Amino acid sequence: MAIAPLSPGDDRAAFRSGSPALDKYFRSLGPRAAGKGLIALFVLTLPSAPAPRGFYALSGLTLRLPDLLGERGPRPSRYPEIAAARLTRLCVDKRHRRQGLGAALLADALSRLAALPSPPLAAIADAPSPQARHFYARHGFRAFSDRETQMFLALQPAR
Ligand SMILES: CC(C)(COP(=O)(O)OP(=O)(O)OC[C@H]1O[C@@H](n2cnc3c(N)ncnc32)[C@H](O)[C@@H]1OP(=O)(O)O)[C@@H](O)C(=O)NCCC(=O)NCCS
Repeated sequence: MAIAPLSPGDDRAAFRSGSPALDKYFRSLGPRAAGKGLIALFVLTLPSAPAPRGFYALSGLTLRLPDLLGERGPRPSRYPEIAAARLTRLCVDKRHRRQGLGAALLADALSRLAALPSPPLAAIADAPSPQARHFYARHGFRAFSDRETQMFLALQPAR
């Protein structure tokens, strides 16, 4: 299995997400945003079949701690904003789900973030459906106090 940045030779037209919006994202919107440097798009392929089996997209954002912690937060912090990474999309071809490919994509995204020179302190995942929330919750992501369609995971600070 290989997970690498999107390359022009990837056969994106063969990918079937099960959602016209996600297919459109993978075919045109995502690559365009990646070309402009707004996101990083990674693609999973297997040696046995060159067509992509899955992908994920990452971007950076600043997160306000009070939004993250809600009522659970301590007294107001002197540093209320932290650097976070946003996992805007993560998708496996619908014909190849439940084989661990989603978990492999997520593990790859988190290890790339941990390897950055200044790793983010949290990962925020867009999770628009109950299926997506179930997936991220299985991998340790937690719900925000103030929004339903995103979840967060605290990452280890760099030592
Ligand atoms: C959410 C999504 C990425 C998961 O992808 P996936 O490849 O099926 O994920 P995994 O295989 O790692 O895990 C899914 C389930 O399969 C199970 N599984 C993993 N390997 C397995 C195997 N070899 N045999 C049987 N089951 C297996 C996992 O335990 C997990 O079970 P659970 O539903 O009880 O938690 C995929 O369903 C998807 O692309 N959905 C549409 C897009 C989406 O909602 N993306 C997220 C937000 S943008």
